[in-house]
Amino acid sequence: MDIETNPFTGVAYSARYRNILETRKALSAFQQMNRFLAVYNKNQIVIIVGETGCGKTTQIPQIIAYSDLPHLRGKIIGCTQPRRVAAMSVAQRVAEEMDVKLGKQVGYSIRFEDVTDPKTTFLKYMTDGLLLREAMTDPELRKYSTIVLDEAHERTLSTDILMSLLKTLVQRRKDLKIVIMSATLDATKFQKYFSTVDGVQGALPVPILKIRGRTHPVEVFYTAEPEPDYFEAAIRTALSIHRAEGPGDILIFQGRLALSSAYPFTRHSLPNNSNACSSRHLAPPMGRSLGRSLSAPTSPKPV
Ligand SMILES: Nc1ncnc2c1ncn2[C@@H]1O[C@H](COP(=O)(O)OP(=O)(O)O)[C@@H](O)[C@H]1O
Ligand SMILES: [Mg+2]
Repeated sequence: MDIETNPFTGVAYSARYRNILETRKALSAFQQMNRFLAVYNKNQIVIIVGETGCGKTTQIPQIIAYSDLPHLRGKIIGCTQPRRVAAMSVAQRVAEEMDVKLGKQVGYSIRFEDVTDPKTTFLKYMTDGLLLREAMTDPELRKYSTIVLDEAHERTLSTDILMSLLKTLVQRRKDLKIVIMSATLDATKFQKYFSTVDGVQGALPVPILKIRGRTHPVEVFYTAEPEPDYFEAAIRTALSIHRAEGPGDILIFQGRLALSSAYPFTRHSLPNNSNACSSRHLAPPMGRSLGRSLSAPTSPKPV
C-alpha cells in the first residue's frame, strides 16, 4: 500500500491517502496484515476476533482486496453489517482510505439505496438482510469471491441465517472464501459450527485468528458502594470527568429514555461559564435514527 500508483484506479495516490495511511498503520488489524493473509490464503473459512476499534471492519476487507484483486476477475468482496448506518458510514470511510470514489470501486447497498456500480464496484458493504435477499435470487452468490460477516457476536437473525446458508454453500463453491468477524472472545461456537461437516466435528479446518493489541488503554474503576440510582451516578461521574480531565469525549451506555432526560439535568448541574458543555454537546447515540452526518465520529470537544 506504500506505493505510488493506486492499483484500483491506475492514478497516483493523493496526499490525503498518504495521511490516512499513516493513521491506519497504528491499527492492530493493519499491523497484523501478514498474519491474517497467511491464514486467509490457506483456509476457506476464517474467524477473526479483535476488540472494537482494532480495525476489523475497515481494514480486513481492504487487505483482502489488495491481496485478491477481485476487480480483475469481475468478482466482488461483500461485507455485511447488522445496521444500515454502519454500512453507509464504513463504506464512505473505506472509499477515502483507498483513495477511490464512493459508489464506484467501493460502495454500499442497503434496502432502497444501492450506491454501487455493477461494472466497477469490487468492495461492497451491505446490511446482512440485503445479502440474505440476494441469496434468495442467487443461492450460489456467484458474484462474490469473499463474503465477510461482520459483528457476528451480535447474533442478528439475518447473520445467523446467513451463517447456515454459507456453511452449505462453501461445499458447493470451493472458490468462495468466508470471513466471520466478532468482537468477543467467545468465537469457539462459530468455529465448532463451521468445522463440523456431516456431523463430523473438525472435518473442515476453521482457524480463529485473534488480532492482538489494545486500541485504547483501558482502566476499570468500581464504586466503593452499590449505587442506588445508576442513571444519576452515570451523570454525576460524567460531570466530574468533564471538570477534572482534559479535552475529550465521554460515552455513556444507558437507556434511551434516561439519556433524553440527561439534557436538562446536565444543563442545570453546570455553571453558566463551564467550559462549553451545553446540551449542544450532548449527543444521544441512537444508531438507527442517526443521519449520515451525525453518525460520523465526533470532532474534538469545542472550547
Ligand atoms: N469514518 C471514520 N472517520 C475517521 N476514522 C474512522 C472512521 N471509521 C473508523 N475510523 C477509525 O478506524 C479505526 C478502526 O475502525 P473499525 O475498522 O471500525 O474497527 P473495528 O471494526 O475493529 O471495531 C477506529 O478506531 C477509528 O479510529
Ligand atoms: Mg467493526
